[in-house]
Formats: sequence, structure tokens, C-alpha cells
Amino acid sequence: MSSMSNLKEKLFSKIELKRKEVKELLKESGDYKLGEVSVAQAYGGMRGIKCMVWEPSALDKNEGIRFRGYTIPELRERLPRAEGGEEPLPEGLFYLLLTADLPTEEDVKEVYNEWMARKETPQHVFDTINGLPPDTHPMTQFSVGILALQKDSVFSTRYHEGMYKEEYWDPQYEDCMNLLGKLPGIAAFIYRRSFKDGTRIHTDENLDWAANYAHMMGIESPEYKELMRLYLTIHADHEGGNASAHTAHLIGSTLSDAYYSLAGGMAALSGPLHGLATQEVLIWIQHLQEKLGGGVPTKKQLVEYVWETLNNGQVIPGYGHAVLRKTDPRYTAQREFALKHLPDDDLFQIVSMLYETVPDILREQGKAKNPWPNVDAHSGCLQWHYGIKDYDYYTVLFGVSRAIGILVSSIWSRALGFPLERPKSVTTDWIKENISANGS
Ligand SMILES: CC(C)(COP(=O)(O)OP(=O)(O)OC[C@H]1O[C@@H](n2cnc3c(N)ncnc32)[C@H](O)[C@@H]1OP(=O)(O)O)[C@@H](O)C(=O)NCCC(=O)NCCS
Repeated sequence: MSSMSNLKEKLFSKIELKRKEVKELLKESGDYKLGEVSVAQAYGGMRGIKCMVWEPSALDKNEGIRFRGYTIPELRERLPRAEGGEEPLPEGLFYLLLTADLPTEEDVKEVYNEWMARKETPQHVFDTINGLPPDTHPMTQFSVGILALQKDSVFSTRYHEGMYKEEYWDPQYEDCMNLLGKLPGIAAFIYRRSFKDGTRIHTDENLDWAANYAHMMGIESPEYKELMRLYLTIHADHEGGNASAHTAHLIGSTLSDAYYSLAGGMAALSGPLHGLATQEVLIWIQHLQEKLGGGVPTKKQLVEYVWETLNNGQVIPGYGHAVLRKTDPRYTAQREFALKHLPDDDLFQIVSMLYETVPDILREQGKAKNPWPNVDAHSGCLQWHYGIKDYDYYTVLFGVSRAIGILVSSIWSRALGFPLERPKSVTTDWIKENISANGS
């Protein structure tokens, strides 16, 4: 095993404990039933089926996400902050997700130092991205950039050299740390090439990870850097069943390395029912503004527009959720940020009016199980306010953050020796035959 940093050593001690715990659990309660699967669930996107272990976070349908047991408001209080800042540092959230312990300032510094030591990205990655037409969707560029790093996978190299299964977590950790060191630079480059003059801005070693990302995009507003810290913290993980996390988890279970897994996860995040909703919200709001010739619509106009969208068979972007049944606390955190920093912003006014309008309408329509806003209902208006008006880019910001949770969990999946995922599929004929053989 290569020499260990404090963080890695701490992780290893946690892994040893958890392995023992899981081994005993399986021995004593391996046959305990977590639930049953209904026909409706098999046809209905597997909602609610408990069939996966994901250690870093858990989602409660009413309360929202808890990261290693802590809610977002708790973490906004308790995670270390940048000097003079009020929002949590994502380095701290990473430490918490990885080790299950709240970090000290020193722990956060160590994560930061690890990532900074790994930030250099080979030129071929930028050349590969540059080979794509500039109007390629930024999420495609992002997935391609991640895959272009794959040839340097430590896990793949060590696997082909031969290693014990108990050691898998170690090279997986190395790949994940390498990725997290490089992702902001790659993502910022994609922003600059798609929407600015294409020049790369290099890291400023005086800035934390999130502030550096903003800096490399070319944005120096201290307020935006605060938003970036908050944004990258709250989007980091949403338990394991969401499409991007689950995709990455499935790919990883084949012992594909972290680059393949994360690129696949980002492909899932690119769908309009998942991370792309963040840009759809803004497009939808601005379409209304254009129709009305700009400004803030009246409540009546808003109600009409929401109904028009529904009557055209479309969804209201940013509303509803596969698991949540209340307002997403990630929405609330961004709303609090807006109330503090941009209370008079036009778009924020509209986002707030939608919050007062849409839930009643969705309830009246009676289809959506959750009429409340999710995280994506708010993100775009904050980005727009600080001048990131290129909404095709918004999902990349989401992706950089989501990489934290996906990658942490991939280390734990290796540590706990999770096998290849292979659920059973059935045909409609099989279902019908079983129902008639066994009764409904
Ligand atoms: C997130 C989402 C995909 C969850 O899907 P789900 O778990 O199938 O949601 P539900 O069980 O509540 O769906 C039941 C019905 O309500 C509809 N519905 C759900 N959310 C809706 C919304 N925001 N606007 C209009 N209709 C909605 C569904 O389309 C479905 O209609 P159908 O029976 O005609 O197919 C869905 O709420 C949605 O499409 N939201 C808008 C996109 C979005 O914000 N995505 C980001 C999620 S973080």
C-alpha cells in the first residue's frame, strides 16, 4: 500500500470498522426483508425499492437530505468556512461524507492541499475538448473531458498489475482525489471555451476550491464565490437512487474505474428530468417574460402561464420530486441566500411568486405526487444574477458538485467489496402468468 496521508489513514480505520460491522450484520440478519416489490414499482421506475447501500447520505421524503446525519441548515452552521465567509466549504462536506466525522479547520485544509496537489491536468484533455465543435453542449464536453483523463486511472493500472480485493478502495481513492483536484479546472475551461474567449485562467493558490472554480471561470465577485461554496456543498449528494448516482454506482460495480463511472453519471445528470431541469426552469421563465415584453409578470399572468404549460402536456420544471414530498431544503438554502444578497432581483421575484403559485395549481391538477419546488427551481436565477447567463452551463456546475458524493460513495463501494449489480428483469408475459398462477 502506498504511503498514507492523515485523511487516508483515518479513512482506512473507518473502513476496517465498517467492514466488521457489515460482516456481522450480514451474518446475523442477511435474510431480513427490506421490503417487497410490486408490479407497479417494476413498471414505475423502481420507486422506493430498497435494494442498494449508499453510505454518505440519506433522503427523507419530508425532511430532505441528511449528509451523514446532518441537515443542510445544521451544516451551514457547523462546517468550516472561508475567512470572512458565511457559507460552508465543500472541502468540509467532502471530509464529512468520506469519514462520517465533522471536519476541523485543519482537516479542511488537508483536503484542500490534497486537491491542489493534484490539480494539473494533461494538455491532451483540453485538446480533446477543443476537438469538439464549440456549440457542443457543455455537459457533453464535461463527460468527454472526464473520460479523456481515464488513461491515467490508478485503479485500472493496479487492477491489471494484480491486487487483492481488500485493497481496491486505495487506488479508487487516488482516482477520486485526482478527479476532484482537476474537475473545477476542466469545468471552468469548458465555460471559457463555450461562452468566453477560450483562454484558460489558472488556479490562484490563495483561494479555496469553490472560489478557485469561480476564479477560473473568470468571475471575481466575492458574493459569487460565496454562492459557489454553498452551491457546491448542497448539490453534492442525494442518496444513491437518483439517476446520476445510481448510474455511476452501476458502472462502478463492473470494476470500471472512477472516470468511466463519473462520465456515465454525468450523462444521466444531463437529462431534463434530472440535472438539466436547472436550465429548463430559466428557459421557461424567460419564455414567459419574452411573451410579456419583459419585467415581472402579475400573479394572474403567472397562473395562466402555469396552466398553459400543463395543458400543453408539459411538466413545470423545478417542481415535483421522485422521493421528496415537501419543499427541498436545497431550494430553501438558495432562497435564504437570495433573500440576503439579491432580494430585489427580477428573476428572484418571479421564482418567489412561482413558489406561492405553482403548488396550489399542481395540487388542483392532481397528478404530481409532490407539488413543491426542488433544488433546480432556484439555482438558475442565482447564476443569472451574477452574470452566468449561459444556461446550458448550469448542469456542469451541478455535476462538479455531484461528483463529490458519487466519488465518495465509489470509494466505500470498493471498501465494502460490493459485487457486480445484476437485478432480475421480467417480461409482461411472465408477470401475467405469475399473477394467474398465484392469484392477484
Ligand atoms: C422530478 C420528476 C421527474 C419526478 O417524477 P415522478 O416521480 O414520476 O413524479 P410523480 O410520481 O409525482 O408523477 C406523477 C404524474 O405527475 C406528473 N408531474 C410530476 N411532476 C410534475 C410537474 N412538475 N409538472 C407537471 N406534472 C408533473 C408526472 O409527469 C406524472 O404524470 P403522468 O402520470 O401523466 O406520467 C417530476 O416531478 C418532474 O418531471 N418534475 C419536473 C422536472 C424537474 O424539476 N426535475 C428535477 C428533479 S430534481
